[in-house]
Amino acid sequence: MNINTTPVWQALTEHYTHTRNVEMRKQFADEPDRFSRMHEKLHGMLVDFSKNRVNEETLSLLCRLAETAGLPEKAEAMRRGGIINTSEKRAVLHTALRLPADAGPVYVNGENVVPKLHRELERALDFAEKLISGEYTGSSGERITDLVHIGIGGSDLGPQMVALALKPYHKNVRVHFVSNADDADIAEVLPKLDARRTVFSIASKSFGTPETLLNAHTARDWFLAQGMGEADIKRHFVAISSNLPAVAQFGIAPENIFAMFDWVGGRYSVWSAIGLPVMVAVGAEHFRAFLAGAHAMDEHFFSAPYRRNIPVLLGLLGVWYSNFYGAESHAVIPYSHALRRLPAHLQQLDMESNGKHTTLGGKEVDYQTGPIIWGEEGVNCQHAFFQLIHQGTRLIPVDFVVPVTTPYQIGSHHQFVVANAFAQSEALMRGKTLEEAREALAHLPENERSELAVHNEFSGNRPSNTILLDALDPFTLGMLIAMYEHKVFVQGAVWQINSFDQWGVEYGKVLAKTIQPELAGAGTPQHDSSTNGLIAYYRSQHQG
Ligand code: F6P
Repeated sequence: MNINTTPVWQALTEHYTHTRNVEMRKQFADEPDRFSRMHEKLHGMLVDFSKNRVNEETLSLLCRLAETAGLPEKAEAMRRGGIINTSEKRAVLHTALRLPADAGPVYVNGENVVPKLHRELERALDFAEKLISGEYTGSSGERITDLVHIGIGGSDLGPQMVALALKPYHKNVRVHFVSNADDADIAEVLPKLDARRTVFSIASKSFGTPETLLNAHTARDWFLAQGMGEADIKRHFVAISSNLPAVAQFGIAPENIFAMFDWVGGRYSVWSAIGLPVMVAVGAEHFRAFLAGAHAMDEHFFSAPYRRNIPVLLGLLGVWYSNFYGAESHAVIPYSHALRRLPAHLQQLDMESNGKHTTLGGKEVDYQTGPIIWGEEGVNCQHAFFQLIHQGTRLIPVDFVVPVTTPYQIGSHHQFVVANAFAQSEALMRGKTLEEAREALAHLPENERSELAVHNEFSGNRPSNTILLDALDPFTLGMLIAMYEHKVFVQGAVWQINSFDQWGVEYGKVLAKTIQPELAGAGTPQHDSSTNGLIAYYRSQHQG
């Protein structure tokens, strides 16, 4: 299907030409019920999408677009274990990972996977609890105090972000993350450890990712250099992977392997045993609450009518700005220090999923697909890039993610942060007219006033969603991440692409394999003159 030649897409194009100059400021003045119509509450979450350049007709057309694109059928196919990752011939079942143990069956190749995934979840949770209680000790009988999680991409970003976000729930085992092949990363962590009291979890779905294997080997060498023997490895190294033969080859005992399944994509895997560092950090009960939050969002996504469906609305609003307003990017700003790694996680989730230019049918798209996702923690970013969002020439839709309570309760810090989040979204929406700018400068002489007023005018009419979380707890965090997963799904469905493969990333990996030996001096590099020149310069710096 060519989504952009469908009647509903044409209707949206037409609608855009009529409504693009409508001012949200005026809409708020004319529609006293705008907020009450355009926000949704779900458990501990409130999503306000009223500060968008839409009216009821826009929303209804966008919902029709989702229907036309086949979203209902696609979502159902995902839920039931259909092979929707067609290029890799795989089911896509991260939603199954958060099903309760007594949920109905989900079949992959004729096998009900629910019992199997719960068995694996229980094994990982049990291991985590035993580390926390001290029942599982190192090979010399000492209590484990540190877990070092080695992985990259989806095997790192999700667990790292979640572990950081749930800091107030941490128990007694410290968790560390090593992902970068740059030795500065592991060099920062190793000196903090006592080998006798450390467990390394090597997380790689494929167990073929060179960065992870490099770090895993370095960790093992360090471990042995600390006076530990080969026999101790069994007790101090565990792996999480779907490639069991490769893990065995690395030397990890079968009983120390936590399986993940090929129907869970790396960027959707924090809910599986890849979440082991989260389990170890916060314990089984909180991890179960995290899964339950995600499941609650799944239920909402699979059942709520589109006009009331949070991920569907957020996904469609993104389509509206990308494909009709020509927005290039989307900013996600958590007003929360604890959520500071959320933008990094969402970058992979969204951009690796929807950064595609070929449709499921194998045709080159002639419309934009996945936006550039970026962001930083507020309030800090107000003093960095917010100027451009307010007065720059580009339209950048923003998501403000704001927990409305804090576990710390230090003075008025939290109120300050929330006030700033709300003020930013209001300012983006309202802007400041020239007249208002002149009024604010009334204390200045007329010539200065006129000169400055033009710089103080803000066009406003800049869209944002505000996502409030009653508390940043495991349940609500699970809901939040699942919400974004489904938002990405909705957009991929509209754009007719496969959100679950990542062939583009593979190419760079292949080229790196050729270049590494060349850096070490092998052969005569046969690349373009730029790449050859860079290799020659590197070699010249490593001579002698
Ligand atoms: O960067 C590509 C990628 O395949 C991601 O999709 C994935 O999350 C990451 O590498 C790590 O892969 P693995 O878990 O197989 O080591």
